[in-house]
Amino acid sequence: MPDNLIRKIIRKHLTSPAELVPGEEIHLKIDQTLTHDITGVMSYLAFEALHLPRVRTECSVSYLDHNLLYVDNKTPDDHIFLQSIAKKYGLYLSRPGNGICHSVHYSRFGIPGKTLLGTDSHTPTSGAIGMLAIGAGGMDVAVAMAGFPMRLKMPAVIRVNLINRLRPGSSAKDVALEMLRRFTVKGGLGKVFEYTGEGVKTLEVPERGTIANMGAEMGATTSIFPADEVVRKFFAAQGREKDFVPMSADEGCEYDEEITLDLSKIEPLIACPDMPDNVKTIPEVHDIPVQQVYIGSCTNASYADIKKAALVLKGKTVNDDVSLTVSVATRQTFRQLLKEGVITDLVDSGARITEIACGACPGIGQAPPTGGVSVRTSNRNFRGRGGTADAKLYLVSPEVAAATAITGFITDPADILGDLSALGEIREPANYPIDDTMIIAPPADGSNVKVIRGPNIKPLPINTPPAERIKAKISLKAGDNISTDDITPGSAQFSSMRSNIPLIAQYAFSRYDPDFVSRAKEFGTSIIVGGENYGQGSSREHAAICPMYLGVKAVIAKSIARIHKNNLINHGVIPLLFQDPADYDGLSLGDELEIDDSNSQIRSRKVTIRNLTKGTSFRTKLDLSDIEIEIILSGGQLSYIKKQKKA
Ligand code: F3S
Repeated sequence: MPDNLIRKIIRKHLTSPAELVPGEEIHLKIDQTLTHDITGVMSYLAFEALHLPRVRTECSVSYLDHNLLYVDNKTPDDHIFLQSIAKKYGLYLSRPGNGICHSVHYSRFGIPGKTLLGTDSHTPTSGAIGMLAIGAGGMDVAVAMAGFPMRLKMPAVIRVNLINRLRPGSSAKDVALEMLRRFTVKGGLGKVFEYTGEGVKTLEVPERGTIANMGAEMGATTSIFPADEVVRKFFAAQGREKDFVPMSADEGCEYDEEITLDLSKIEPLIACPDMPDNVKTIPEVHDIPVQQVYIGSCTNASYADIKKAALVLKGKTVNDDVSLTVSVATRQTFRQLLKEGVITDLVDSGARITEIACGACPGIGQAPPTGGVSVRTSNRNFRGRGGTADAKLYLVSPEVAAATAITGFITDPADILGDLSALGEIREPANYPIDDTMIIAPPADGSNVKVIRGPNIKPLPINTPPAERIKAKISLKAGDNISTDDITPGSAQFSSMRSNIPLIAQYAFSRYDPDFVSRAKEFGTSIIVGGENYGQGSSREHAAICPMYLGVKAVIAKSIARIHKNNLINHGVIPLLFQDPADYDGLSLGDELEIDDSNSQIRSRKVTIRNLTKGTSFRTKLDLSDIEIEIILSGGQLSYIKKQKKA
């Protein structure tokens, strides 16, 4: 029977069950993993706890790319730890300055048709080359590195039929924003977007990467493009043609849903504060004065992205009231842009070239001014994401960002260039300057390598199994779309604490509700109440570990984002869903809740909760598989695996 591309790859990697039913749990063999310096330490601490001599994947890569601001000892200590771990356990290590994980991964390691699990929600970027690439928490990746299959709900596969081609001035970013406009930040939950159609051929690999990358903003499990002639050419340009495998959907296959996007009708778009789906056209916002422009990130800092921005800026200067920073995604493309004089053009215009890293995207440096407006080519504009709580972040293409930097107002590139045809002529190079000297391959035997642990690296806290009778007060009542940035903020200050849970836990929800930590400590045992899409955004499992460390036993929400839900399960926090969402309204901060006979209620997946403060009760449910139930009852994934090993 003809199959779509997603199902073909899944079938090849399926360890159980035999049939693929959307919404049912499937178990997949993982070929490759990636981690980065912000989420990696927790993942490797979990891997160490499994006591294996070496990773069991085909290829695992540890990237040092997010926090390269060594403001004190913490981050360099983490980097040294990660480097020694890579040597000991058989991972490749991409050194600081080599590039952002996703951009380097699809360029240097990715293989069409393989599975990739990464400790980053934008891991689906490698869907650009026909990989099944999924973001997960650190514990899930540790388990995959140990050779265990990954648990996943079989997603519905949505065909996105692309027709025609983009007009110059419109870009892959605008396609991603158009998808967000249609689907919203919740519209991809439980779904995979498979891009097909004649229009696909007009998009180069990094453009496909931009679109696959921002599928994460819709909550999608992943996004994928076929591995076609465009991908083959990209692999040839990377000197890796031998790794190319053609992959596409079978003729006449079926999808769960289909939509068509006419690329020729896509216009320059902008995501307005504070959500990536708050999408408008440029004329709707063009009067807004801008203080900062950032061109960079794994979304939009490819060779062609930077060259297009430089073309708009060439011969002009950055507006007096704007700070423009540019950060190229990989060292490889940076070298090519240097050789061609593109970096010189940018510097001449007044752009500040910052390190090849994530940097400003997660708020590590380049924070906007108080109440400022920052226009960015990255993928998230949640409140506080840029490092300044009251700044307003707008998301655009590199062309719009460059035009905006010149005028100081949100500007269409057509207003600067007039004739946009030169933008349309910019393509990826026929050959990239290949130099992998900043990728360290592991030794054949790492058994004698000593792991170097700085003082900031604290042991991974382990939860306990749920008590038979849980009595806990509500320590936080949150609204809809709480992101993991709201739970554990980014920024250089917080990012350097990620290896030290006792320390970073003191800042949980600090931007959302500064009293949360003291309240949670006072209550001792507590429960968080959330609205829709609780835990959206970044895959950081600190958003589950920190509340757990502070005594949070359960989250009760209207819905919980996929990766965050897995992180809660992995750390033994019960992810409850309201049976009737209206019951959310009857709960108040400080209410004392009680769950009796918790173990059998959890097993039945129906949990009745009594509100002792109000004398009421309400019903919740657990959308968990049998294994996930056992993980929760064990107090988390590590305890569950240890129990399995003993059995
Ligand atoms: Fe880095 Fe931002 Fe991408 S943090 S991995 S550039 S989403």
